[in-house]
Amino acid sequence: MTDDNSITVRRMNFVMPSEMDKYWFGGNPLISAFFYAMSATFPDGERFFIDTVRHYQKEIEDPALKQRIRGFIGQEAHHGRVHEDFNAALQAKGFPMAAVAARAKALLDIARQRLKPQRQLAITVALEHVTATLAEHALRHPEVLAQMEPTFKDMLIWHAVEEIEHKAVAFDVFRERVGDEFLRRRVLMIALILFFGRVMVFQRQLLRADGRRASLGEWWQALRFFWGRGGLMRESLPHFVRAFRRGFHPDDIDQRALVRDWQQRYPEVAALQVQG
Ligand SMILES: [Fe+2]
Ligand SMILES: [Fe+2]
Repeated sequence: MTDDNSITVRRMNFVMPSEMDKYWFGGNPLISAFFYAMSATFPDGERFFIDTVRHYQKEIEDPALKQRIRGFIGQEAHHGRVHEDFNAALQAKGFPMAAVAARAKALLDIARQRLKPQRQLAITVALEHVTATLAEHALRHPEVLAQMEPTFKDMLIWHAVEEIEHKAVAFDVFRERVGDEFLRRRVLMIALILFFGRVMVFQRQLLRADGRRASLGEWWQALRFFWGRGGLMRESLPHFVRAFRRGFHPDDIDQRALVRDWQQRYPEVAALQVQG
């Protein structure tokens, strides 16, 4: 959420570089494949998020929330499309991104077919908290961003800013139309385990297909990246735990400073926005 609570839909013009490393995160296969695995799940995941919110859209009467829902849908739709381009570029490098995406989609299809709308929305609420938390980590650590392939880094900054901007939309819809804290927290637990469990499986699938074995040094680097001081999982865990509190709201975690004036702090990303 920004200060004025508005959610801007931005169209971006990312151009895939013709020459790029196979492993976009500083050449480290384990960390790179973590980002690739997430990217593979995003297009269908974000379509799922949109649909679960859309289900309740007509029932929402608050004009401000209605407006934010439109912003949320617009942002997620763009994210999905951009990730599809990135996934295609990785597929061209020999990674089975389409196969991984199909596996993720199969899981989401089961949720669509078998779960009631309120449970599906609770999944979105849970995963939106995950994306906003991971977004915070990216924006807090320029040294992490600096190791990424530049186009991927720019895309990640844009995606992270927008995830933080719209982080409370699905939550507010859930609170207004479902309002079941027990369900929210139960689904959060399951979603966290399933999401990170699947990402690890997909990570492995991507590396296996490439026949790439990480060296001891790369394992050590990955361990520090995820669990070392300031590490992605180590810093994210308290945010995940906090969301289990009864009465938690995403705005309880103040991330506004990370997205305020982002265009000034990341002019190279802002320059990629398509105007008009
Ligand atoms: Fe997104
Ligand atoms: Fe999102």
